[in-house]
Amino acid sequence: MVCISCSKDKTEPPLPCLDNPSFDLEIKNIFLNNCSGCHQTGNAINGIVLEDFSSIKLNLDHSMEEIQNGTMPPPSVIMPPSGMLNDSIISLLNCWVENGALNN
Ligand code: HEC
Repeated sequence: MVCISCSKDKTEPPLPCLDNPSFDLEIKNIFLNNCSGCHQTGNAINGIVLEDFSSIKLNLDHSMEEIQNGTMPPPSVIMPPSGMLNDSIISLLNCWVENGALNN
């Protein structure tokens, strides 16, 4: 897959953190909808499982890196591979992390 026009300006500041998102109501579904298909027990690509609070918490730093920058050597692969999550979703994730990444 070649993608020329979809690179993002990574220097943009993140959207402001208005409140602390709930893991149960918001964050969990972001992972279930965008990540778990390739990262779950029985189909854990690269050994990464993202299917519940403890597995998400275990892989959180690494996941945030992959979601925002992609760290696999060139060309870097942003997660999910189908296309970068939109700014409001990334901002929700960052707000949750800033607030301590709680099981709330
Ligand atoms: C369509 C399948 C697919 C989806 C959906 C997906 N991934 Fe991945 N993920 C992969 C593949 C394939 C790799 C290995 C990439 C490589 O080796 O270049 C990977 C690698 C990773 C790694 C790094 C593993 C390592 O060894 O360093 C992390 C962390 C990760 N994914 C997190 C996520 C997160 C978080 C999401 C959701 C936002 C996600 N992935 C969605 C297929 C997927």
